[in-house]
Amino acid sequence: MAKNDGLNRRLFLKRAGITAFAAGAAGAVGSGPLSAVAAAAAAEAAGGGKYDFDTPYSRVGTDSVKWDQAIRTYKRPNLIAGMGIADMDFRCAPCITNALTERIKHENWGYLDMPKEYTAAVVAWNKKRYNLDIDPESMVLTTGVHPGIIATLRAYAPPGSKVLLNTPTYNGFYGDLRATNTLPEDVPMRNDKGKFSIDFDEFERHISHDTNVYILCNPQNPTGNMWSPADLLKIGQICLAHRVLVIADEIHCDFAMKGVKYTPFASLPDKAVVNNSVTFKACSKSFSLAAMKNAWGFSTNPDIIAKVRANNRADITTLGMVANKAALTEGADWLDQLLPYIDTNHDMVVNFMKTKLPQITVAKAQGTYLQWVDVSYVAQKIGAKQKAASMSSGRRQMSAEQVVQDWFAENAGVALNAGSSYGTGGENHQRMNIATSKKTLQAALDAMATAVNKL
Ligand SMILES: Cc1ncc(COP(=O)(O)O)c(C=O)c1O
Repeated sequence: MAKNDGLNRRLFLKRAGITAFAAGAAGAVGSGPLSAVAAAAAAEAAGGGKYDFDTPYSRVGTDSVKWDQAIRTYKRPNLIAGMGIADMDFRCAPCITNALTERIKHENWGYLDMPKEYTAAVVAWNKKRYNLDIDPESMVLTTGVHPGIIATLRAYAPPGSKVLLNTPTYNGFYGDLRATNTLPEDVPMRNDKGKFSIDFDEFERHISHDTNVYILCNPQNPTGNMWSPADLLKIGQICLAHRVLVIADEIHCDFAMKGVKYTPFASLPDKAVVNNSVTFKACSKSFSLAAMKNAWGFSTNPDIIAKVRANNRADITTLGMVANKAALTEGADWLDQLLPYIDTNHDMVVNFMKTKLPQITVAKAQGTYLQWVDVSYVAQKIGAKQKAASMSSGRRQMSAEQVVQDWFAENAGVALNAGSSYGTGGENHQRMNIATSKKTLQAALDAMATAVNKL
């Protein structure tokens, strides 16, 4: 495969109308994304640790959503940074590349019998990192957290029923609701200078006779909020009292920032509350394996897991299983070195905004590699509301946040995610993905500051 890398990459770039030079400029020093294992090993030593997160690693030319889609959308080959969709720009953990390389040597790709060691690896990961006991019999493997959530909604939320969400929340949930013909019931969170909390009375008031499910996001995407045991317990008790099933989406849980602790919903001390829940997790965020399509769900309640299984079809691929198993069994030290890197990236963003770009306000995320930034100043300066209104007609509705998103892409070469897609409370915000090299992050911040300071 490595032999053809250069050719495939050139072909892709040609088709996309991008020159190799421009692609290199796109936040992208470093070598090509598909280079050999040997290159990964050689790069390991850089960056002060065993693994190199500091050398920018170009993803341009791989059909990545974060970079290539942004380049196509904005017709901007010299993109400084794709900071949208939640995956990371780093070269993956070498143990993953090694395991995949080894498996590829065997040239048969027939149906896969999921090995027991895979579920054992999931169980061991959760026990070791979170002291969380998962009964392997209580697990369901899925091709992602979305399919798991959709299977659960199919089992518990009849079409037309309401699903509770604390907003702003992960925009993908709205897609899951559309897929199941269920309706979002947004319960806006309180936002005290970037510290989010739930008004429990308000939360309870949003529950009606046709509310069957609540989707918890812990830590919360896009705000980065990490829920405390007390918050989780309170919310779990309200849901139990109203027979509302809790779907705990904990896909970002491996990213707890310095001094912050993640509490698995399933570890709460109230057994009845836990029995009223199903949790979905994955290592797709932790190891940036999103396109390897793999996640898992579990519940202490056998009825719940049986119903989810009945609505789930897990077409897990061999390569996906191999990559995920390698991450879980051998990838811990890579992740442990990555976490402080992400933590200091968060600090970098916060310090930069404070000192160089005070027009944008931000509070450090407690978890995730996402920063939720308040861009009211930009929205107001560029007349985003008025522009959005004039660009909207019929079914094509444009939000002020989308106008701001486009403005940053066009004026700073930085592709963000518009706050409006995250439900009520997303007004005046953008989501910024900071899981990239410090060089790329710095370039993005500088470009944003230059653009904003011209307003
Ligand atoms: C909170 C949350 N849940 C689910 C997903 C998607 O999960 P998957 O790719 O496993 O379907 C994402 C991806 O960004 C996410 O942030």
